[in-house]
Parts: sequence; C-alpha cells; structure tokens
Amino acid sequence: MNASKETLQNIRKDESPELAEIVDGLSQAEKMISPKYFYDERGSQLFDDITHLPEYYPTETELGIMLANIDEIADLVGEQASLIEYGSGSSRKTRVLLEHLHNLAVYVPVDISQDHLLTSAETLREAFPNLEILPVVADFTKPFKLPNPTTMPLRNIVYFPGSTIGNFTRDDARELLGYMYDEAGADGAMLIGVDLQKDPAILERAYNDSAGVTAEFNLNMLRHINREFGSNFDLDAFSHRAEYNEDKGRIEIRLVNSEDQTISIGGQEIVILKGEAILTEYSHKYTPEGFRALAAEAGFTVQKVWIDPEQLFSVQYCVRD
Ligand code: TRP
Repeated sequence: MNASKETLQNIRKDESPELAEIVDGLSQAEKMISPKYFYDERGSQLFDDITHLPEYYPTETELGIMLANIDEIADLVGEQASLIEYGSGSSRKTRVLLEHLHNLAVYVPVDISQDHLLTSAETLREAFPNLEILPVVADFTKPFKLPNPTTMPLRNIVYFPGSTIGNFTRDDARELLGYMYDEAGADGAMLIGVDLQKDPAILERAYNDSAGVTAEFNLNMLRHINREFGSNFDLDAFSHRAEYNEDKGRIEIRLVNSEDQTISIGGQEIVILKGEAILTEYSHKYTPEGFRALAAEAGFTVQKVWIDPEQLFSVQYCVRD
C-alpha cells in the first residue's frame, strides 16, 4: 500500500468516528455492527411494525402489565415525582404513566435522536397541556445533566421500558444501571421492563416473524450503511438469522452472507466469506432472580415485580439501597 492511500484512509477515519467504528467492528474475528444503525427513517418505521406483529409479544404484554397494575404503580411512585424516560417517550406505555401518576412534577424524555424526541414531546404536550415536558437530547448510555423543572420534584423515577436493557451485554447493562442509580438520586427509583427467559420456540418466533418484517429490519441496516457511508454490501446475499443461545440466555441476531464478497468502506476493503455472519444485536432475557442480582450489583433493590399470566414479560420497580 502506498503512503498517499494510507494518509487518505487515516483522514477519512479521523473525520468520521462512526466509520472508524464500523470498520473496526468488521475487522474483528466475529464481525459485528452496532445496533444503532438499525434506526434510519425506514428502520424506525420497520421497528414500529415489529411491535405490532402477532409473534412479537413484548410490546403488548408490557402494556398489558402496565394497565393491569397502574394504580399500584402510581401509589409506589407517589406524589409529585419527576419521570425520566430513557428513550423518546413515543410509546403507549408512557401515556399510561402520564395519565395515572399522581401530580407529576415534570416529564423528561431522553433520546439521542433529536427529531424523534422533539416530535414526540410536541405530541405529548398537546395531550397533556398542564404537564411540564423537558426533553433532553443525549446518549443515555453515558451520564447526562437533568434540566431544572419549574416545580421541585419530590423524587426522581427513571423509566426504562421495552426490555431495551436486554440489548446490552451484562457488563454494559450493569454500567448503565449504575448511571440510572446516580440519575435517580437519593430516594429515587427505577421502573423497568425486562423480558423473561422462556420456551426458546416462543423467543425464536418473536424474532423470526412469518411476514418477514424482522428480516427486513435487520437487512435495512446494510442499506442504511451503504447510503450513509458509500459502502457496497450486496444485500441480496445476506439473510436474517435469529437464534436463542440458552447458555447465555439471549437471542442473537445476525446477517449471514451466502456469497464471498469484498466490501469497500472508509477507504478499506473487507472480505466477507460465504457462510460468514455479521452480529447485529443481542437481546438478553432474564429470570426474575437473574435480574434481581444484576440490579443489586448497581445498587438497586427490586421492590416489586409484575408479570403477565403467561409469564412472558416483567415490569420491575427498583429502589435505591
Ligand atoms: N429491544 C428489542 C428487543 O430486543 C429490539 C428488537 C426487537 C430487535 N426485534 C428485533 C432488534 C429484531 C434487532 C432485530 O426485543
């Protein structure tokens, strides 16, 4: 390789940390791409479609648990709390909380996608004109500063629905829960949705829907990267695979390549062999005991666990030790 080409590569990677991160992930022994690339406009729409699929039980089940137990949840949270949601707050579950919590001081949705965050905050302002809503544009996997509300909250409640915690490895999940512990502050609490370990057939069906929406969602990641970074992944050669790893208690989602191909990306060439796979997401599933242990490592005590009658999903209320 000549010097000018190498310089060009370095500049390009310096200029785009995202590109450097993608190239790095594709250079590992097991190729991987960060799940954040699922979510371009089409990806967000496809994910919304996933939440309505008959096989994808988590969304409806979590909403059902919230509805069935909302009075008890509201009593545990108490008066005049600040509700801090990790995620944009566009879900029906959020509305259930905003409708039922007693005398909420402020609602703070936190999301990295500014457009999505501000649009959903606007929609919620129309539905809840008397509630102060203070969106924060931030990457919630790192500490961020809370805004100052007009009404002084009595306590902070961190809300983390959708079993998004499952998309983090145990180490990363522990770290994130630690930040939530700090964000909750003295007397604070966390309300979190956690998907449960269960019959692998039910889990695998949820991530391999018969209409192929999940497959399309997974593949769309490569389309997104081709468009944004000028790469040339041959989408036709990749297929969706989601399998439950019982030892690790997680669904593992990959794109499997069916033909040798060479990808140009960030001034670099990456060979992907026939049969080789790219890991795109984990979705960890917990037992109630397993999650209790993880939460405890971050300083939380699980005070109450609500589970649906089919024992598919849990909503957990955790307080600081
Ligand atoms: N948080 C969701 C989950 O783990 C995300 C998700 C659902 C997902 N279906 C997917 C991610 C398919 C990748 C592919 O359940």
